[in-house]
Amino acid sequence: MDLAAPTSELVRLWQRDWALRSRFTSDPQQGAHFEDTTFAIRIAGREIGVIALEITETANLIDLWLMPGERGHGYARRAISAAEDLCRRHGARNVRVAVRVGDSVATVLFSHYALVASHLTGSVAGPAAIPEGIVHRPMRATEFPTWRDDCVEEYAQQSAYAYGLSPAVTRPVALRAINQAIPDGVSNDTNEIWVLEAEAQTVATLWLRIDDRPRQVYIQNIETLPAHRRKGYAQASMKLAQERAHAHSLPTVRLNVFAHNLPARRLYDRMGYETAVEFRIKDLPPE
Ligand SMILES: CC(C)(COP(=O)(O)OP(=O)(O)OC[C@H]1O[C@@H](n2cnc3c(N)ncnc32)[C@H](O)[C@@H]1OP(=O)(O)O)[C@@H](O)C(=O)NCCC(=O)NCCS
Repeated sequence: MDLAAPTSELVRLWQRDWALRSRFTSDPQQGAHFEDTTFAIRIAGREIGVIALEITETANLIDLWLMPGERGHGYARRAISAAEDLCRRHGARNVRVAVRVGDSVATVLFSHYALVASHLTGSVAGPAAIPEGIVHRPMRATEFPTWRDDCVEEYAQQSAYAYGLSPAVTRPVALRAINQAIPDGVSNDTNEIWVLEAEAQTVATLWLRIDDRPRQVYIQNIETLPAHRRKGYAQASMKLAQERAHAHSLPTVRLNVFAHNLPARRLYDRMGYETAVEFRIKDLPPE
């Protein structure tokens, strides 16, 4: 087996299949990367499928597709090994994949990859009641710089830990993302930053992204100030997310959570959120 540049006919077949598969996708990893590195999987020079990779320090295995007649012969495992070798040769330290819950084949193929994060989804049945005594208001521009710096640092540390990277790598990425999303330091049409107060003190913050495609509220950041934790304020923030989704007539609230973040994971389980996609990773030790 080898990986080589694909013919245009193979790419056409793969893209047609992809369009059908991702029509109802909720996975932010899917659908965006047709231009990235795609390889034909070949057996004795014959094209049998496609593997799509984005090769950086943490490589992304974006898709693995075998033509229907080529399935059930063990080619998928060999293609994954070939892709891992290719990523390693190009300097990747690990490779990441998104496995949709319910995709039994992918679940088995990537069972030896470690779980790093999950994409969770919760449905919005109606308005949500935020407990009495907790009020919410948009974040003020004067509060933004401190909140942004905390938010960037928290995410940079967590993602560095999850992916085995240095915070020096993850920090600028996080800062760029937040500056692009909220350039004026206040909520805009697609990003809402809320402050929750109790007894006239700030207790928690919540950053929501309002998405058209897919139609959802996406929780970018939820944080309770350390001195106020375990008093139900994160549950109140989650209810606010639901309330905002209802106000925008959006049916779903989604978010990502790192596997090592047990407090957050328990919070979402408690709120009835379900896993839609698992992000799994395999380290690629140098040869
Ligand atoms: C995760 C976080 C938002 C929880 O905030 P909180 O206000 O303390 O949460 P709540 O008081 O509303 O707790 C709700 C439930 O979450 C779970 N939970 C919260 N903190 C927990 C902890 N330290 N250990 C175990 N479970 C925890 C519990 O099930 C809890 O219910 P209980 O107190 O009745 O047992 C908070 O720890 C935090 O800000 N962490 C840093 C930022 C972060 O990781 N955000 C999540 C990113 S995905």
